[in-house]
Amino acid sequence: MKTAFITGASSGIGRATAVALGRAGFKLVLTGRRLERLQELARELADVPTHLLTFDVRDRAAVEAAVASLPAEFADVDVLINNAGNAHGLAPIQQGDPADWDAMLDGNVKGLLYVSRAVLPAMTRRNAGLQARRTC
Ligand SMILES: NC(=O)c1ccc[n+]([C@@H]2O[C@H](COP(=O)([O-])OP(=O)(O)OC[C@H]3O[C@@H](n4cnc5c(N)ncnc54)[C@H](OP(=O)(O)O)[C@@H]3O)[C@@H](O)[C@H]2O)c1
Repeated sequence: MKTAFITGASSGIGRATAVALGRAGFKLVLTGRRLERLQELARELADVPTHLLTFDVRDRAAVEAAVASLPAEFADVDVLINNAGNAHGLAPIQQGDPADWDAMLDGNVKGLLYVSRAVLPAMTRRNAGLQARRTC
């Protein structure tokens, strides 16, 4: 059974991807900050082996600790879905709030890099794996 690691599995696209991959026969590592949402998804996917991790993708130490904590049966990740993120601030640049830009770059860009950096070594060691990322 192959393993998929999905960030932002607690809602939206990440949740839908988890359901689709679970139905396709993957074991799932489901991640997000809202544990209750992940637990609800795991209950919905009752026949699918799941492991839940809660961390903020902007917190590099938390990302590394979470990935390092994976039990052996979930540690060989075959598919990484780097989905976690948000759209912060859609105003024209001249009216934009720099706090929104920081939030976007910290979560959608640096968070993706932190998760990839933590997960990819086990893939490259095994010469296996696929990484998918958001288009923005
Ligand atoms: N919907 C669109 O049309 C669209 C278009 C282009 C790109 N995207 C991108 O696709 C991704 C998913 O979009 P969506 O519409 O499905 O969004 P969503 O429903 O708001 O879901 C976002 C997911 O990301 C997680 N997340 C957000 N910030 C996080 C953080 N700092 N640390 C850990 N997890 C975090 C959330 O989980 P928690 O809140 O539980 O942490 C949630 O599961 C986003 O990255 C978004 O920018 C969406």
